[in-house]
Amino acid sequence: MKAPLQIAVTGAAGQISYALLFRLIAGNLAGPDQPVFLRLLDVPGAVGDMQGVLMELEDCAAPLLAGAIATADPEEAFHDADLAFLVGAKPRGQGMERQDLLAVNAEIFTTQGRALDQAAKRDVKVLVVGNPANTNALIALKNAPSLSPRNFSAMTRLDHNRVVGLLAAKIGCPVAGIRQAAIWGNHSTTQYPDLHHALVQGRPALERVETSWYRDEFIPAVQRRGAAVIAARGKSSAASAANAALEHMRSWTQGTPKDDWTSMAVCSDGSYGIAEDLVYSFPVRVQNSDYAIVQGLPVNEFSREKMRLSEEELILEREMVKHLL
Ligand code: NAD
Ligand code: LMR
Repeated sequence: MKAPLQIAVTGAAGQISYALLFRLIAGNLAGPDQPVFLRLLDVPGAVGDMQGVLMELEDCAAPLLAGAIATADPEEAFHDADLAFLVGAKPRGQGMERQDLLAVNAEIFTTQGRALDQAAKRDVKVLVVGNPANTNALIALKNAPSLSPRNFSAMTRLDHNRVVGLLAAKIGCPVAGIRQAAIWGNHSTTQYPDLHHALVQGRPALERVETSWYRDEFIPAVQRRGAAVIAARGKSSAASAANAALEHMRSWTQGTPKDDWTSMAVCSDGSYGIAEDLVYSFPVRVQNSDYAIVQGLPVNEFSREKMRLSEEELILEREMVKHLL
């Protein structure tokens, strides 16, 4: 029997975690022969709710669940963690931009960055889901100086999946036929969903759709999909976010397919001229549990401008939290 993977999940009493935890114990992340030990973290006022979640986890009688704890102490939650899903943060309501959450949520990631630095395994993989995810990830990694910035990433996989789902619906093709979609930049309305490299059943995606549809309808639809879900549901996306978090970690731990890539927000190394020290979404390939930004993609004027706008927004966000870095 393999040693259990120690998986920390923050915001464990919230709606995304409720959709995530039961998939983790079903083996959807690491496969049917990998036990998991869950380390749940939430605020002190939510410890009672987490006890309920623990009971439900136990009531699944899941063979892969090696154990679980629920705590309000970040160091206990991150103790020896192999993987950490940082979900806990306030979601936006109607009419708010994700940036509006910066002041409310930023402090959480200073504390949690420090606790990860103290307590987690040295090769821990940290995924920030809580919004504004990119800048929260920057805060966390800056507060964890003994870990590499490469231990941290933020989630744009939901945006990536939205690109694939919306494009497949438009063209009327299976989602499995779409490869090489890319999200650049911030998980916000400035994100740039890029179809210039995407393939539909091996042929360029942009040959299958009108340029005007791509630029004037598709890009804004992906950028505003989170708000559309909030308007329809009265709450922010949860099951699709949990699914994306799971797929992000699966790609990061098990690799991307040879003929495809995924989108992950990672610490910029200056690739494509994007300023360093920003957590920016790039197309990435993963091998041996290590990501590499896809290099050498041609970038036209249209794309360059969109990529720059999102970079500018992230620079502005970084400025707003510079006292926490
Ligand atoms: P929710 O309100 O249902 O749950 C959030 C949980 O976080 C609550 O239980 C709350 O008590 C907890 N929490 C707050 N502060 C905490 C702290 N310091 N430590 C630990 N836990 C803490 O929200 P949700 O719908 O699960 O969404 C969580 C976050 O994920 C939000 O910020 C939301 O905007 C974001 N989100 C991101 C994406 C993405 O694609 N990156 C997608 C969907 C939602
Ligand atoms: C999403 O994209 O669904 C989430 O980030 C929630 C939001 O605030 O849009």
